[in-house]
Amino acid sequence: LQNVPIFQDLTTNELEAIAPLFVERTFKKGTIIFFEGDLGDEFFLIESGVVKIYRIDYAKEIILALFRDGDFFGEMSLIQKGLTRSATAETLETSTIYTLVRSEFYQFLERTPKLSLRLLEANMERLRKANEQIYDLTFLDVRMRIIKVVHRLAEEHGIIKQGNLMINMKLTHQQLANLAGTVRESVTKVLQELQEDQIITIQKKMIYINNLEAMKKLFPPPT
Ligand code: CMP
Repeated sequence: LQNVPIFQDLTTNELEAIAPLFVERTFKKGTIIFFEGDLGDEFFLIESGVVKIYRIDYAKEIILALFRDGDFFGEMSLIQKGLTRSATAETLETSTIYTLVRSEFYQFLERTPKLSLRLLEANMERLRKANEQIYDLTFLDVRMRIIKVVHRLAEEHGIIKQGNLMINMKLTHQQLANLAGTVRESVTKVLQELQEDQIITIQKKMIYINNLEAMKKLFPPPT
């Protein structure tokens, strides 16, 4: 738990008090952890794996967030009493997740102001990203949105592999489309163009960024 950003200011005593209350669970790839509209009774902390947070409307889906090791989710409907899950959570990889029941989560928050502040800080970061998503969906064209999504993934999930920057997350063109608010065909077309311009390379379905700076020039800077 020490390596989890929201727990980083806690003392060993505080960590030792909370650690035994978490229950470890493993979810296979493609498992729905909860649906939008469900009653929320647990808080989730990802030990390993990837979780997609999304909303769906008939066949269309918009991905609100991708979470992985060290990230938490499911806090909103616990803190906003009487409200249900604001989105659906599904594993994109087999994931080991710690869960904490509502009453324990709540008591721990009340007793530990430092944790509340960290949670608030993390949620502000999420609000910033959500504002960015609103901006992009409102003002950017499809091509720019796709490029910006790939750029953001490179910044958030990029690792250096054999000297090259690689997005360390396996995503299908459909999933990229659901992040950018568009259709799969557009993603395929734009990724093809980026490869022709030697801005990216795709190998074994993984995206490598050859020129992050050139990519950044293809969409407007944040306001
Ligand atoms: P909850 O509403 O309980 O269940 C869905 C969870 O998804 C929510 O808590 C948050 O943890 C997370 N979530 C919902 N919307 C967003 C968003 N826009 N950005 C990041 N996380 C979100």
